[in-house]
Amino acid sequence: MKRPALAMLTVASLLHGVTASRCAGRACSPPVGNLASGRTLRTLHMRTSNDSFLEEPHPPALMVDDPFLHPSTWWASGAAAGGEDEIRLDLEARFCLTHVVMVFRSPRPAAMSLERSRDFGRTWETLKLFAENCSSTFGSADDASQQGAICTSRYSSATPCDGGEVIFRSLGQAGRMDDPYSPEALSLLTLTNLRIRLMRPHHCPTSLGTSRSHHSPRSRGFSPTVPSQSPRSPTQPARSASYAVYSLLARGTCLCHGHAEHCLSTGEGRDTQDNSPVVQGRCVCTHHTAGAHCERCAPLYNDQPWRAANGSSGEPNPCQKCECHGHAQNCHFSERVWRSTGRISGGVCDNCQHNTVGRKCQRCRPGYHRHPARPLNSPQACTRCWCDPVGSVPALTSTEGPWCHPRSGQCHCKPGVGGTSCSHCLPGHWGFGPDGCRPCVCPLTCDHITGHCLDSKARGEFYNVPIGGKIPDLTHFRPHEEDKVWSKELAVSALYYTGKCSCKERKLKGVSDLCKMKHSYVMKASVLSAHDKGTHAVVQVKVRKVLRSGLLPLSQGTRSLYPLPWTSRGCTCPVLNPGGDYLLAGPEDVESGRLLVTMQSLVVPWTSTLGFLVSEAVRQGCL
Ligand SMILES: *[C@@H]1O[C@H](CO)[C@@H](O)[C@H](O)[C@H]1NC(C)=O
Ligand SMILES: *[C@@H]1O[C@H](CO)[C@@H](O)[C@H](O)[C@H]1NC(C)=O
Ligand SMILES: *[C@@H]1O[C@H](CO)[C@@H](O)[C@H](O)[C@H]1NC(C)=O
Repeated sequence: MKRPALAMLTVASLLHGVTASRCAGRACSPPVGNLASGRTLRTLHMRTSNDSFLEEPHPPALMVDDPFLHPSTWWASGAAAGGEDEIRLDLEARFCLTHVVMVFRSPRPAAMSLERSRDFGRTWETLKLFAENCSSTFGSADDASQQGAICTSRYSSATPCDGGEVIFRSLGQAGRMDDPYSPEALSLLTLTNLRIRLMRPHHCPTSLGTSRSHHSPRSRGFSPTVPSQSPRSPTQPARSASYAVYSLLARGTCLCHGHAEHCLSTGEGRDTQDNSPVVQGRCVCTHHTAGAHCERCAPLYNDQPWRAANGSSGEPNPCQKCECHGHAQNCHFSERVWRSTGRISGGVCDNCQHNTVGRKCQRCRPGYHRHPARPLNSPQACTRCWCDPVGSVPALTSTEGPWCHPRSGQCHCKPGVGGTSCSHCLPGHWGFGPDGCRPCVCPLTCDHITGHCLDSKARGEFYNVPIGGKIPDLTHFRPHEEDKVWSKELAVSALYYTGKCSCKERKLKGVSDLCKMKHSYVMKASVLSAHDKGTHAVVQVKVRKVLRSGLLPLSQGTRSLYPLPWTSRGCTCPVLNPGGDYLLAGPEDVESGRLLVTMQSLVVPWTSTLGFLVSEAVRQGCL
């Protein structure tokens, strides 16, 4: 049991040492060898000897022994004189065959065919026919006179009687193709089985046979097969075989599409001996490919379609890794995604782990949200939602546990409730409970438990939230900024005290109302926030459109408005809610450079109807 371990070690060190250099950044191929070496060749007729003590002296294996070490060994057919025989090489996988070269010890056959199967022997296809006279034997043209014909007469003459060769090149006479990994080349090169049918023997011409045997270029130093003095009679079994072959070379290589330079045995447990000349069939894939023939991409490398390497340019065309942020081991290629990204990326991660979902495992699954401090590729990137069961609206599917916004973790709160997990009342609300929180009914604000009114100025608290004001989109929440957001930016608006203040709203009846206005400034603006400065309020707006301006220059952008009066009744009217768009018109205080909002100001929430009125007024020249 020492040997396999040693073999593995050798292969491993070989791969380690060489893969990096030959396949790195370019197309590569495994070594070429004789596909017949180390494999069993089958023939139709075994030579049967009455002398059962003697072993078969010329078995098929002798065709593929080393021609330099054993030049005078051969296979001899057991076919009856004038009969057919067949040499068959069954491979255990698909291979590429580039050449077949046979050296005969008998005269070469008068008719012979070379066939391949690409489906393990179910169907066969003729690669080449060999005959002295192609038209009379096979009814085919002869490639000696017509280039590209399936039949050839080049290798079928009876002479030489010994040492005659038959040669076949898969890629034709030219023998080269720019890109051996192209589909066209592969259709010519691949096979799973090779069959050589020896259909009709030749007899060695008497006179030539003698002379040939003496002047044979191969000088093998033994007598010719067929006795030259007495031509065989067809009725009497020949002493020698009809067909005899010194060597059969089926030159080829493992099929790896330019993605491997080594191949291993396809058999699971079948380990080959060291230094065995066998051309093995299972590729050791590089370029992030996988499969016995590197015919597909490795599991996490399906972001683009698989491609063979380019043998003419040397481009490796490696498979591309899917971005799964470390949450998946596999991805698959989607034609739809590929097209939708403009043929840039088509990978879809499979079985996203760590509570992630999405094509790239880039989102948290329902019930989980992004941990703010962990990177997306961390196994802890998604953390479970925690939502207060009292303050949050229950998830529709209660089995999944609470739901929160997958990015911010913000839970879905009941009315008047705030906080990332909906755990307490919003400012200006009180009575946290199963129905949420109630608004304070106070001039300022109230105790969040009892609802009793409080003097908020003394406690430096915020005033009130706008009633009917827009609750900001959940996605704008940042858990750690939450408190600040509510107290400073959104809690205070132009003040509105339920029950104490009531603002009389000025109504716009038509274009004429707009035309009659005497205000210094008229604008369309969005209210951003409102701030209590103790003695006065400041409202930040974003000016969207300047319709009229007085002495103070006005332009688009952020601007402060100063609502008046502030003190006497503790109210500012009209109401400006953060998040709302308004038509605003009012006086200006040129000395202080302030735009004012007074009881007489026009503050109308912007609607499409209002927009129409305004554009009409502009058209009439009133604004
Ligand atoms: C074996 O020898 C016997 C006679 O001894 C003969 O009849 C028979 O045909 C021979 N068989 C073969 C296969 O040569
Ligand atoms: C081949 O055989 C055909 C028919 O038997 C004959 O007409 C033709 O001349 C032969 N060609 C050669 C090259 O011998
Ligand atoms: C391979 O490279 C050659 C030369 O750059 C190019 O002409 C050919 O189109 C490429 N083949 C494929 C299949 O991309």
